[in-house]
Amino acid sequence: MDFPSELRRQAAVVERGLDQYLPPADTRPARLHEAMRYSLQAGGKRLRPVLVLATADLFAAQLGAALPAAVAIECLHTYSLIHDDLPCMDNDDLRRGQPTAHRQFDEATALLAGDALLTHAFALLAESYAAQPVLAHALIRELADAAGSRRLIGGQMADLLAEKKDATPAELEFIHLNKTAAMIEAALVLGGLVGGADAAAIATLRRAGHELGLAFQIMDDVLDATADRATLGKTPGKDAKAGKTTFVKLHGLATSRQLAQAHSAAARAAFHELPGDTAFLIALVDSLVIRSS
Ligand code: IPE
Ligand code: IPE
Ligand code: MG
Ligand code: MG
Ligand code: MG
Repeated sequence: MDFPSELRRQAAVVERGLDQYLPPADTRPARLHEAMRYSLQAGGKRLRPVLVLATADLFAAQLGAALPAAVAIECLHTYSLIHDDLPCMDNDDLRRGQPTAHRQFDEATALLAGDALLTHAFALLAESYAAQPVLAHALIRELADAAGSRRLIGGQMADLLAEKKDATPAELEFIHLNKTAAMIEAALVLGGLVGGADAAAIATLRRAGHELGLAFQIMDDVLDATADRATLGKTPGKDAKAGKTTFVKLHGLATSRQLAQAHSAAARAAFHELPGDTAFLIALVDSLVIRSS
């Protein structure tokens, strides 16, 4: 398998899906729909939707069956980024190499574009899987759990509460597991559900997502402390400036990198337990701990 070209192929499928499943930019009010597309189509690694597609492939899902779920999770993820960047949260000017939504438009439009992307994710699942109500219900429940107050939003709240105070390693793990790993776990589970994975395989996917999510956020913290603005496509050094509790702050760079490798190895081991050809997923896991953006 040629990993880079397979990754490009999957990401291109996602890009087409985003265009297809989003309301057109000239939908009324155009300013809102433009803002939704602006943030969503600015780029981004498309990690979560690619995980959905690749996991569905593993279980031999029908061609195209996983695409609405992949688009839904990218809509939800992008909403979380738009809100994460708002002045009342991380106050960032740059995202995906472009001005953040509130800089390009204004705060109210960014807020509303985020709201609309969040809601659109669930509308898309309900609509696209209507002919398979049991699947639709499982997908909606999975995404709602991952994005709710106990997981993504709870992690975001804990992240803000841990600014300017010394959080413990256990508190930091709570933050990472919820603000980031929850959505990575959900991506794998959505793919598994579309592919008809059994309960044991779903449990393995959750374990892989947990480990991959931790590895991913540790590297996000490392990159915030080490990368340059042009490569990262966001403002580096923000975490230290905001006094955030991060892996780098608690454990230093070298140990953080080692911890990312260890969690990534655990994710790889979990993928090895799954049926089908896991080569692409494993290569993807490996690529995430050596990424530069
Ligand atoms: C950024 O996610 C937010 C985190 C959870 C760390 P990504 O690094 O996947 O951002 P994009 O989607 O590639 O822009
Ligand atoms: C945010 O974590 C995770 C989200 C749920 C958006 P960060 O605040 O570290 O993400 P970046 O570094 O701004 O992408
Ligand atoms: Mg944040
Ligand atoms: Mg941020
Ligand atoms: Mg970060």
